[in-house]
Amino acid sequence: MRSVLPFNHGWLFYAGDVGEEISDDLFTPITIPHTNKILPHHNFDNAEYQFISTYRKRFVLPEPRDARRVYLDFDGAMIACEAFLNGTKIGEHEGGYTPFSFDITDFVRESGENLLVVRLDSSERPDIPPYGYVVDYLTFGGIYRDVRLRYVEPCHMGRIFARPQHVLSQPGLEVDVFLENQSSLDCAVALQAELRAADGSVIARAESTTLASVGATQAMLRFESLSGIQLWSLDQPYLYELSVEMRDGRRALDRQVARIGFREAQFRKDGGFYLNGQLLKLRGLNRHQTYPYIGAAAPARLQRKDADILKFELGCDIVRTSHYPQSPHFLDRCDEIGLLVFEEIPGWQHIGDTDWQGISLRDVQAMIERDCNHPSIILWGVRINESQDNEAFYTATNALAHRLDPTRQTGGVRYFLDSQFLEDVFTYNDFSNTVVEPKHTPHLVTEFNGHMFPTKSWDQEERLVEHALRHARIQDRAAGMARVAGAIGWCAFDYNTHREFGSGDRICYHGVMDIFRLPKYAADFYGSQISPDIRPVLRAATLWTMGDRSEGGNDPLVVFSNCDRIAVYIGENLYGEFEPDRERYPNLPHPPFTVAGLKMIWGSKYADLRVVGYVAGRPVIEQRIAADGLPHALELRLDDAEIQADGADMTRLVFRIVDRFGNRLPYVNQVIAFTIEGPAELVGENPFALIGGQAALYVKAGHTPGVVTIRAVTPRLSPAEVTLQVR
Ligand code: GAL
Repeated sequence: MRSVLPFNHGWLFYAGDVGEEISDDLFTPITIPHTNKILPHHNFDNAEYQFISTYRKRFVLPEPRDARRVYLDFDGAMIACEAFLNGTKIGEHEGGYTPFSFDITDFVRESGENLLVVRLDSSERPDIPPYGYVVDYLTFGGIYRDVRLRYVEPCHMGRIFARPQHVLSQPGLEVDVFLENQSSLDCAVALQAELRAADGSVIARAESTTLASVGATQAMLRFESLSGIQLWSLDQPYLYELSVEMRDGRRALDRQVARIGFREAQFRKDGGFYLNGQLLKLRGLNRHQTYPYIGAAAPARLQRKDADILKFELGCDIVRTSHYPQSPHFLDRCDEIGLLVFEEIPGWQHIGDTDWQGISLRDVQAMIERDCNHPSIILWGVRINESQDNEAFYTATNALAHRLDPTRQTGGVRYFLDSQFLEDVFTYNDFSNTVVEPKHTPHLVTEFNGHMFPTKSWDQEERLVEHALRHARIQDRAAGMARVAGAIGWCAFDYNTHREFGSGDRICYHGVMDIFRLPKYAADFYGSQISPDIRPVLRAATLWTMGDRSEGGNDPLVVFSNCDRIAVYIGENLYGEFEPDRERYPNLPHPPFTVAGLKMIWGSKYADLRVVGYVAGRPVIEQRIAADGLPHALELRLDDAEIQADGADMTRLVFRIVDRFGNRLPYVNQVIAFTIEGPAELVGENPFALIGGQAALYVKAGHTPGVVTIRAVTPRLSPAEVTLQVR
C-alpha cells in the first residue's frame, strides 16, 4: 500500500555551495518551509538571497520498503536544484513554482542512515521562467514548500482527475485514473471508487477493471446520475471526498483521495461569467505569494489566512495567482471558503528560447496536473503575463491545457487589445484608468490601477482616498458593462520587488493592503462590498484632521459601508444623514457614501466624528474618530490563539498605535520593542520603528508545546501583552 509521510523535519542548511568537507556542525538545523535568508521587510537588495545553498538531511527509512518504490516529492524549491542520495545524483529540477519528484528506490539504503543533499540555486537564472529580462516581484530562495516521502507498490496510481458532468441537470462524475506500472509484468487490477459527502457518508460507488500494462496507462471510472448532489458555490462551497482504491485480486495495492466540488463555471460569448448557470460579476484582486521577512516560505496557516483575508476581509469573489501557481494550502482554502481562482503559469513579459519555452510548457502541465481537482479554479492562464504574441508557443500552451483539462477554459494575460486571441477568455490588463470596451468576448479585466497610483498606508489622506476611489470607480464601471465579466485589481498586498520597479525602498505600494496584509482605505472599499447579512461594514476614509488635505478640512468625506443609510455626527450634533452615492457608483452592490459640505473653518474646534450605519432602519455599526489625534494605546493582536509545535508553524502578530477609539494613527513613528518567552520565536524586525501606525511580525513555533507570552513596549504608552498556546 501507499504511505505518504511528511519530510519537512530534521534538515540542515548551509548558505553556500559546499561538499562533504564541511561538517554538519557548521550547518543550521531547519524545518521546511524554509527561506534561505531572513530579510527586513524593505530596503534590501535581492542579491542577498541569490546564492547556491546546500541542504542536507540524514534519515533512516521510517517504514520498511517491502518491495515498494520510494519517491521524494517536493512541492516547490526556488529556483533550480540538483539532488544526491548517498553520493549519487538522483535528479534535478528547474523552476521554482511547480512540484517535482525523485524516484529514490534504487539509491536508498533500506537499513542504516541515508544522506540526502540538495544543492539549490536561488539566483535569477535567465534560462528559467520568469527570468531573462526584468521582473516586477522577487523570487526568494529556499525549499519553501512542503516535502514528502512517498512509498507506492510497483504497480500504483499516479494522479486521479475527477470531472463532474452535467451538474445542473443530471449530475455525474467521470474519473480519470492514471496508472503507473513499474514492475516487469502487466497487472490486471480492479478500481473501486467511493464518493463521500461532507459528513463522511458514502453516497455512491463505482467500479471497473483494467489491465495496467507495464509503463503508463489510463483508466476511467464513471458515476452515472448521482442524486441529491449539493453544488459548490461561493456561499456554500460544498465539498465531496472521492477515494479510489486499486486492487489486485484480494490485495489493495493503492488508494488515492481527492477533494472535489460540483459546479459549472463558464465564461460565455455574451460576455458574462456564469457560476452554476447564474450570472456572477467577478470582483477580485491579484495576489503575490511573498511575505515580509520570510519571502515565500509561509507555512500552511499563513497561506490559508491569505485566502481568508481575500474572501472575508476584502469581499473578493476571485483571486488571480499572479504570476505563477501558488501554494496547495492556499488553493485548498479557496475551495473550502468559496473563492474563485484564476491560476497562471510562471512568467513576466519575457519569452525565452525554445528550452525556456519547454520549461514553460512543462509548467502548464505541472500546474494542471497538480490542481485540476480544485473546484475553485475556473481558468488556466497559459500565456506569460503581459508578453508579446507568439502564435506557435501559445497555440501549443492552449492545446496542451485543453488536452489535459477539457473542462476548463483558458485565458492568457496581455496588455494590448490587438493581441492575437488564442484562448477562450480575453484576459486583459487595463491600465486606461477606466474599463475599455472589449474587442472580444468573453473579456475579463485581470489588472488595473497598480503602478498607475502607488499608495503608501501613511500617504496623505487625499491620495489614500483617491486610491480607494479608483478601485471603486473601476469596479463600478466593470460591474455596469454587460460585455465585461468582471475586474481583478492590482493588487491585494504590497510586495517586495526589484529596483527597476517600486518605491525607493523596493516595495511596490500597489496593494489595497500593506505588505503585512493590513488595510489601506482601498481595502475598506473592497470590504464594504460584503453583504450586510454577513457582517456590517463601516469605515470613514479620513484621519479627521484640519491639516492633512490640500486646503484643509475633510470635504468630501467618503465612507465605505454596506449599510443602507448613515448618520454623521460631529461631537453631539447630527451633521446629516446620507444614502449610498448611487449617482456616482450606479453598479456597485454597496456604493460608497459621499458626505459633502463639511466646511471646517480655520481655528474652529474639531469635535469627535461619529458615523452610525443603519440597515433596514436599525443602527448596526458605528465608528468614532477622536478629534485630538493623540496616541492612546499600543495594540497587540495575534491572528491565532494556538499554533502547532512543528518547528515551522507561524501566526501573525499585528501591532498598531491607536487613538481613543481604536483608529490607527499613521504618523506615529515610535520604536516598539518586543520580548518573547516560551517555545516560540519572533520573526521580523525587533525593535520595529513604526511606519504607517501599523505593522506585523510572525511568531514561529518551536518543537515543544507550551505557553508563549509576547510583550511589547514603546515610550509614553502602556506595554501590551498577548499569549499563545503552542500545541
Ligand atoms: C503589470 C504587471 C504586474 C505589475 C503591475 C503593476 O503590468 O502585470 O505584475 O507589475 O503591472 O501595476
